[in-house]
Amino acid sequence: MSSAFLVASCILFSDPSLTSCVQYVFGLYTTLNLISIWCINAMQMKTITIIGTGYVGITTATVLANSGHKVFALDVDESKIKTIKSGKAHFFEKGLDDLISRAINSGSLIPTTSYEESIPESEVIFSCVGTPDREDGSPNLDYIFAAAEGVAEHSKDGVIITQKSTVPVGTGKELIKFIKNKNPKLKFSYVSNPEFLREGSAVYDTFNDRMVVGSDDNGAVETVVNLYKDVHEFAKGFDFSKVSDYAAEYSGGQEKAKDFESRVIRTNLKSAELIKVSANAFLALKISFANNVAQLCDKTGANVDAVMDGIGADSRIGRAFLYAGLGWGGGCFPKDVSGMITVAEDHNVDMKVMKAAVEVNAEMVGFVVEKLRSKIGDLKDKKIAVMGLSFKPGTSDIRNSQSVKLVNELIKLGAKISSFDPQAMAEVKEKFDNGVELAGGIDDAIDGVDAVVIATEWKEFREYDWGSAGKLMKGDLLFDARNCLDPEMVENVGLRYVGVGRN
Ligand code: UDX
Repeated sequence: MSSAFLVASCILFSDPSLTSCVQYVFGLYTTLNLISIWCINAMQMKTITIIGTGYVGITTATVLANSGHKVFALDVDESKIKTIKSGKAHFFEKGLDDLISRAINSGSLIPTTSYEESIPESEVIFSCVGTPDREDGSPNLDYIFAAAEGVAEHSKDGVIITQKSTVPVGTGKELIKFIKNKNPKLKFSYVSNPEFLREGSAVYDTFNDRMVVGSDDNGAVETVVNLYKDVHEFAKGFDFSKVSDYAAEYSGGQEKAKDFESRVIRTNLKSAELIKVSANAFLALKISFANNVAQLCDKTGANVDAVMDGIGADSRIGRAFLYAGLGWGGGCFPKDVSGMITVAEDHNVDMKVMKAAVEVNAEMVGFVVEKLRSKIGDLKDKKIAVMGLSFKPGTSDIRNSQSVKLVNELIKLGAKISSFDPQAMAEVKEKFDNGVELAGGIDDAIDGVDAVVIATEWKEFREYDWGSAGKLMKGDLLFDARNCLDPEMVENVGLRYVGVGRN
């Protein structure tokens, strides 16, 4: 076939009059082809608004904008919008700024504070606003309903309203009623598409994790799934070395599925809502289980790493999220777990198992403090370096950070604290008005201390030359409260190693 085409081309091009005619036909053919590709792309390109530019919102907006869609990033907070306009996120997340600035420069990402500018044009809207917890532990849905009000007022017919924020099961049904009540004429579909991305691996997870899409409208489900198909295509050419240093963290070596369809879970609205909360609850439960077993290891002389390797090798259990340490924190687990407990109470269900998980987690700071005291005696006037203040590595987020709780507990007992975190120093500056010495680096933080406690397992602490620490420290205790260092290495450089459940 191709050789016949070659012969025909040679004959045609040997005659000059035929050549210009053929060139004209080829030119026309190519132009028409390009126009049709452009038309198909334009037809598939959607105008989208993402409401809320937190970790979930700005990451979702940015990857969709890089995947061929026109995306408004809407937030009522002018300072956040100003930062995004300058091509940056308002928090640290490796690789995200690069994607934001690319999308801003191409014009596909449009940060705005205006519902009027963004919503009327949008075919799909993602609600990614915060759901902080109230005093009683129940989730505060005020921002969710405020966003829904703006959507009801300004949307055009046919809009797909997609909920990404973590909401209690049944919220979608209430929101549908609320929007219908605010704007009875509006024709819309409602989809629950909960988010599973981890801070510190936000971009990686958006490209690789599962997608749960739940609705009673199958057409709307497929539209949302197709948006992710575009993200999946964009991810094929993406250089993952530019994003998370921590993507494989706690995974126990389990590989994620790469094929698109196997990542999609289509379900109904209420199941999608409950999947999100239950997923976080189960992960928190796994960690608390590991920590509870670690306490038992310390009493019995067993080693928690070996125990978790042994049980994690059972494919029914799995090794992921069975890493013992100071406990869980952050913007999701604490509020999602307490939200689940209180919402279940409204339905007369007692989530006993989750209450126990919360209790174990709350004990872990005290457990570490007690163990520290057993090693170096009374903590009054002892100088302790607490390394790491963010709730986990890879992020500047200090919400519900166990490390911050540890610092406060040590101060209560009269210890003098120096501290360093590779990203969260600006965040803690306002938090600690109680005399914590905020150091400029690791050397500075450990200089002259009686003991070092690693409270967040940053790469910088794992890769630090602990051999040089002995010369700087006054004491010799290295308390690895995240079980992230090799005990043998620490002992070999002349320091005393203590971990959580590691014997
Ligand atoms: C979590 C969920 O993982 C994510 O799917 C969801 O969308 C949001 O909530 P994130 O809060 O970013 O993500 O942090 P994650 O990586 O899950 O860690 C949570 C906490 O558990 C951290 O404090 C971490 O240090 C701790 N942890 C995690 C452990 O102590 N041990 C483990 O084995 C795993």
